Amino acid sequence: MAEHAASINQSEPSIARVYDYLLGGKDNYAADREIGDFFIKDLPGSQAIASANRQALIRAVGAMAGDGIRQFVDMGSGLPTADNVHQVARRHSAAARVAYVDNDPIVLAHGRALLATDDRTTVIQADLREPEDIYGNPDVANLINFDEPVGVIFSAILHHLNDDERPAELVRWWVDRVPSRSQVYISHFRRGDDEATQVAEQKLQASFGRGRWRTDEEITQLFGGLELLEPGLVNCSLWRSERAPAGDVGTAEADRLELTVWEQMISCALARKS
Ligand SMILES: C[S@@+](CC[C@H](N)C(=O)[O-])C[C@H]1O[C@@H](n2cnc3c(N)ncnc32)[C@H](O)[C@@H]1O
Repeated sequence: MAEHAASINQSEPSIARVYDYLLGGKDNYAADREIGDFFIKDLPGSQAIASANRQALIRAVGAMAGDGIRQFVDMGSGLPTADNVHQVARRHSAAARVAYVDNDPIVLAHGRALLATDDRTTVIQADLREPEDIYGNPDVANLINFDEPVGVIFSAILHHLNDDERPAELVRWWVDRVPSRSQVYISHFRRGDDEATQVAEQKLQASFGRGRWRTDEEITQLFGGLELLEPGLVNCSLWRSERAPAGDVGTAEADRLELTVWEQMISCALARKS
């Protein structure tokens, strides 16, 4: 842990640590809390977005595991939190295997201690934009059998890629490497026609040089034509949740369902490779 701790720059904010702060975690520093406090104060629904996103991820992993997926690659996994992907998956199968991937050294440092606690989980430090490095990483190759269905998770990560970083092509890269019956989960900041969206996007761009709120259409395009499973792309708060009504829960219905403007800012979908 010490070798990685040395590469952690406490004076520069980190996406992983700001998110940890918004989720109520303790693995953050003053530079992270400064940005986190901006979001909490000026965009008071930010914590609701983080929480809605995390709860949807938990339900999605449960759904994938329920569909028989036994191995997962979690891209931009973030710092360990309550109910991590392997813990959720193991409620369905003790044999579930998870490779956590994040480019932030603090995730590696904490993840090695808290996530990679047995030989069915691993945490690697790698950049999503270099998929060959992830696929070719020996720890990933030892754990994940790419001849069997894989759950590929992009939870709250693709909105940290700008358009010129070609997020749809990255998703396609992974879809081409996993067999049929694999599933892809994406949650993503959703562009609303409101001031709060613009303020939030500007703040992330100013802080990290990245952060892109996309429309429903743009988020759907990230799946590259994969079959979206029920209920399709919807607000995270409604994705297979008790709050969702029966029938159509499209994002256009959010007002009727009395979601706050914040909850409408993050959407997700699960898709299957046929
Ligand atoms: C908002 S957090 C989401 C964490 C978790 N996936 C979740 O949904 O709860 C985004 C994570 O992506 C990581 N990240 C950002 N850009 C990345 C990149 N290019 N490659 C790998 N990880 C990245 C950050 O370090 C951070 O941990």
